[in-house]
Amino acid sequence: MKFGHFDDAAKEYVITSPKTPLPWINYLGCEDFFSLVSNTCGGYSFYKDAKLLRLTRYRYNNIPYDSNGHYYYIKDGDTIWNPGWMPAKTELDSYQCRHGLGYSVFEGSKNQLSAELTMFVPMGNTCEINKLTLTNHGSEHKEISVFSYVEFCLWNAMDDMTNFQRNFSTGEVEIHGSALYHKTEYRERRNHYAVYAVNTQLAGFDTDRESFLGAYGENSAPEVVINGTSKNSVASGWSPIGSHHIKVSLAPGESKSFVFVLGYVENPVAEKWDGPAENGCINRKPAEELLKRFDTTEKADAALAELKEYWNNLLNHFTVSSSEEKLDRMVNIWHQYQCMVTFNMSRSASYFESGIGRGMGFRDSCQDLLGFVHLIPDRARQRILDIASTQFVDGSAYHQYQPLTKKGNADIGSGFNDDPLWLIAGTAAYIKETGDYSILDEITPYDNDESKSTDFMEHLRRSFNYTRTHLGPHGLPLIGRADWNDCLNLNCFSEEPGESFQTFGPSEGPNAESVFIAGMFVKYGKDYVEICKHKGLEEEAKEAEEAIVSMEKTVLDAGWDGEWFLRAYDHYKQKIGSKECDDGKIFIEPQGFCVMAEIGLKEGNCLQAMQSVEKYLDTKYGIVLLQPPYHKYHVELGEISSYPPGYKENAGIFCHNNPWISIAETVVGRGDRAWQVYTRTCPAYIEDISEIHRTEPYVYSQMIAGKDAPNFGEAKNSWLTGTAAWTFLDVSQYILGIRPDYDGLVIDPCIPSTLSGFTAKRDFRGVTYHIQVKNPNGVQKGVKVLTVDGAIADGNMIPFDPSKKEVTVEVIMG
Ligand code: BGC
Ligand code: NOJ
Repeated sequence: MKFGHFDDAAKEYVITSPKTPLPWINYLGCEDFFSLVSNTCGGYSFYKDAKLLRLTRYRYNNIPYDSNGHYYYIKDGDTIWNPGWMPAKTELDSYQCRHGLGYSVFEGSKNQLSAELTMFVPMGNTCEINKLTLTNHGSEHKEISVFSYVEFCLWNAMDDMTNFQRNFSTGEVEIHGSALYHKTEYRERRNHYAVYAVNTQLAGFDTDRESFLGAYGENSAPEVVINGTSKNSVASGWSPIGSHHIKVSLAPGESKSFVFVLGYVENPVAEKWDGPAENGCINRKPAEELLKRFDTTEKADAALAELKEYWNNLLNHFTVSSSEEKLDRMVNIWHQYQCMVTFNMSRSASYFESGIGRGMGFRDSCQDLLGFVHLIPDRARQRILDIASTQFVDGSAYHQYQPLTKKGNADIGSGFNDDPLWLIAGTAAYIKETGDYSILDEITPYDNDESKSTDFMEHLRRSFNYTRTHLGPHGLPLIGRADWNDCLNLNCFSEEPGESFQTFGPSEGPNAESVFIAGMFVKYGKDYVEICKHKGLEEEAKEAEEAIVSMEKTVLDAGWDGEWFLRAYDHYKQKIGSKECDDGKIFIEPQGFCVMAEIGLKEGNCLQAMQSVEKYLDTKYGIVLLQPPYHKYHVELGEISSYPPGYKENAGIFCHNNPWISIAETVVGRGDRAWQVYTRTCPAYIEDISEIHRTEPYVYSQMIAGKDAPNFGEAKNSWLTGTAAWTFLDVSQYILGIRPDYDGLVIDPCIPSTLSGFTAKRDFRGVTYHIQVKNPNGVQKGVKVLTVDGAIADGNMIPFDPSKKEVTVEVIMG
């Protein structure tokens, strides 16, 4: 069952019922100002950091689930309704929500009046624009009222939800004409405030929540809206809101538009004075400049057109055209869009991440780069250096950092032993995409301490060496607190049965080892070798190569279980992910990574591991993380077995590592299977089962309930997942096979035998490649002939030639 449809020409998903199984959201903003907006106008805004500078308030776990947002109430006679249906929930005569790239449009109509509300964050500005157009489709004149409503957050979202003894007395506002200013904190900080304004005269306003809603009132039926008259309330403490009242008269057939702007304003640094002018009144100048930029419909429309143009240009760097409509739609639009969002948000703010928990993840952000780097390489470069600045001198790293300060999060600390290697992964992707080796020379601090700085190459060296020098009894890498699988906490041992895993156990231990990290070490170690060679560090490259060869041997000796790769050894040196185990006999992660690293490729281990995945882990909705699930809690394994069977890391379909298997299948040349794995979790391919899948059909979710869960097939944690980057990598670089490499572009498709070919356009280091792939014999992999500008090439790598601007490539598979 579907709740809407894709509109590929407009690059939108069109939701046709407000009652989607869960809120289906979109992200506005791709620079510093962001808003989350659901298909019923729920959501909130923040500047740079969802925890520290939150503009509007949202209540997670609310009842109903999604009932605070940026709302517009229309009062037409006695009928009160909202263009996005919520929160009044008045049945609409028509409803549509179009989520586009960085904007959302809500179209509602009731009693021959239609409202079109367009929400977006204009490029280069720190505000959200809400353009509201009202049209009278009836034959009678209409006199209506519009009430806007946002509830301000007192900036620090965590404090806002907890510190009521203080917060009920700090709220302050100012009102100037049609602009409502929220200035809580201005008294002591004086460097930021919010403004919410509209480009027309007001009939009234409210800034105090209780005055607007009424005592014991709720936002589904605010007292002010019911009475049709604002109270002109001026908030003092309690809960400041912003509500404008405008009166609109519409002749039959007439339309009127209004532009509302919700802005974040930062005073110039010089304004951080300690003797305020005008008794603590805000400096309105920067706000007025901001508002002036959008004070007409034409200006707002131009800003929207600019945003669309921006996205069209970005997405134009990589496009595909094939007989598979859904593939084209995902590659050309939604994969790349989700990559941008995950790059911006890391795992901080979604409808499942509250914005106050996690900031930027070291591991997560490095992986997000893999799918983002072709879009805006400069931002990827800066991100790499920011991430590296949170590394410790020994090569280990803070697991998370706060986007605003870019400082490592000391509460979480370090000890996730896969982290250092992800830095090599992200850097290798950046260099392959750009050819820019100068990043290696950037002087970069450790732990954000300038006095502890080296060049960036040294950071990579310490990353590589961290793994190399932290090996356990079998010579495999020590796992530390966890590797990619946050919940496999093998150093959580206890002599006291029944204790909770969080309350004891060292984060490091001398025994617990990870085969997964070994796979990473081999895969990304090879990139490290390439980078050393490029720097002329031959000796170092040789030593690194030896360490890699030795690790491969160790994996085959101590990390192979007969039919698949083992997962780990625990603190007691017991095998994890082995046929000898009762539960958790086989895990997905080492199968993906060891095969991507080509460990035992010649010896047949890789093919065998893939066959085992298919045999033991496959389901119709995707590949589960492990089998059988842990049926009881194991203190020595940590969080993993705290989940009921079939959820999350305990045998859920963790979408993130499905593309690892799809890529691994291309390594062994099985294009049909790589494709099957790709399509099984791919949003566009499962749109028809939205009532089962439940999350947005245009983006990935972190997890789909596995076959051991009662709700098999139900997804959770949409949007912020490494799945975005990895699936784009999978489909673009391994299935379509257009893969940047150090010296040029490799073309190596591995496609289903039923696909007769495709064409693609790929910008690479400023050169545009027009690629046509033909598959006349229905093979799954293999390039028989590759011609570059008409000349037959040697092999399937097109050396980068900066003297060209356009290159035509023809590939005959066979
Ligand atoms: C979740 C993991 C997540 C971790 C983040 C765990 O509870 O199961 O998926 O990575 O929290 O801290
Ligand atoms: C989600 C986390 O963001 C990611 O870092 C981790 O690898 C996976 N969960 C698996 O535990």
